[in-house]
Amino acid sequence: MGEGARRVRRRAGLVGGAGAARGAAPGDAGVSGDGVGASYDAAAQGWRAGPERMYRRLAEAMAGHAPVEVRDARVLDAGAGTGVAGDALRRRGARSVVAVDLAPGMLPGAPALATVGDLTRLPFRDGSFDLAAAAFSLNHFADPTDAMTELHRVAGALVATVFAPGWDHPAKEAVDGVMAGYGFVPPGWYADFKASGAYELDPAGFEAYARAAGFGSADAEVVEVDTGLGAPADLVGWRLGMAHLAPYVAGLDPEQRQRARRDAEEAVTGMPPLVVRMVVLRAR
Ligand SMILES: C[S@@+](CC[C@H](N)C(=O)[O-])C[C@H]1O[C@@H](n2cnc3c(N)ncnc32)[C@H](O)[C@@H]1O
Repeated sequence: MGEGARRVRRRAGLVGGAGAARGAAPGDAGVSGDGVGASYDAAAQGWRAGPERMYRRLAEAMAGHAPVEVRDARVLDAGAGTGVAGDALRRRGARSVVAVDLAPGMLPGAPALATVGDLTRLPFRDGSFDLAAAAFSLNHFADPTDAMTELHRVAGALVATVFAPGWDHPAKEAVDGVMAGYGFVPPGWYADFKASGAYELDPAGFEAYARAAGFGSADAEVVEVDTGLGAPADLVGWRLGMAHLAPYVAGLDPEQRQRARRDAEEAVTGMPPLVVRMVVLRAR
């Protein structure tokens, strides 16, 4: 095992699994009531009204890095959310897209085929796909090896993204801070997720996970994407639709919700536009 793999193993040992930390099986992190899947399910409407715009632009950028010919490919959109990666690959000529996600409410409709499922136990035969696309889903695992092993089993190639180490935007803290004033307390899974640092991974670490999962070749690089979003309403829409916040926002009464949104927009006014640094992995 190379130094990169040892480093990620050490790191995985240090941070524990999002689910494993609570004694759950790998990938079960989101199945329980206050877990990832339930939060995304409850957030689906807010996500479509907010973060989807940013993730769509990131997915477009990711699609240009596929390690195999996309034209005519059978694609698995893994941790698909609302299906933006599948959409981007279909626009590049993919023959078919199957979307799989823990959260039924997030899943896209036709022309994608969609199914609820866990990335660590995929309900597909070996080699069912030419390409798996995992846009910001593998970062939900402190150790994504099991999920990536499953992706290797069902698809010949993988393109995947996570946030680059150190990438941040001041709107994140500012909007969470405003919402704390409205009584918001981050759900347990989100606190674990932030504490684990699992949402970001350096290129060497991502490559090492891919090799440990069985991919023979793996290349990862940092890519910067100017999402074109930056107006206060864009930044606040992005943050308020995220899975840790959207269910809480939906529970506020309409007058409070409007006030919270105004306060948040005031808090982010003058902030820089949303330029995201992500790590893109190509493996096969
Ligand atoms: C940040 S969202 C990204 C969604 C979409 N890929 C995109 O780029 O917009 C992460 C998605 O991964 C899903 N997810 C997290 N853990 C998962 C698991 N173990 N199995 C399947 N999906 C999972 C969540 O439900 C969520 O929809």
